[in-house]
Amino acid sequence: METEFDIAGLVGAALEARDRAYTPYSHYTVGAALLTAEGDIYQGGNIENASYGATNCAERTAIFKAVSEGRRRFRAIAIAGGMEGQEPVDYAYPCGICRQVMKEFAGEDFRIIVVKTATDYKVYTLEELLPHGFGGSSIQ
Ligand code: THU
Repeated sequence: METEFDIAGLVGAALEARDRAYTPYSHYTVGAALLTAEGDIYQGGNIENASYGATNCAERTAIFKAVSEGRRRFRAIAIAGGMEGQEPVDYAYPCGICRQVMKEFAGEDFRIIVVKTATDYKVYTLEELLPHGFGGSSIQ
């Protein structure tokens, strides 16, 4: 299925979400914008912790916000990252843990948009970023 949603709007929401990331340790700010099947956008930023392992990535912040509000069907997530106070210098690919969390909720038509600028981004399927992934169907 081709993308039938406002990609530019979602990309802009991811770039904006970076402003609210909490990154006193790495100073690398990530913003994510998750589009639900209903057409709503949930934004998230990375939230770091003095105990580094307790840090939550931007993608999971957005996904957990949405799921905790009762949303479970998603069309796409846009991700943007770069050093605090600076524009991104590269595309922001999701970490392995976030790809696994996406696997839990992504349908066939789910798209992952890695953002460099408002007009420079790439679109992937989850299968491309997490081939042969482990999901709920494996344990039925
Ligand atoms: N980070 C994300 O928010 N998403 C990713 O997919 C990769 C990493 C965050 C976690 C940490 O706050 C910072 O980037 C540096 O690892």
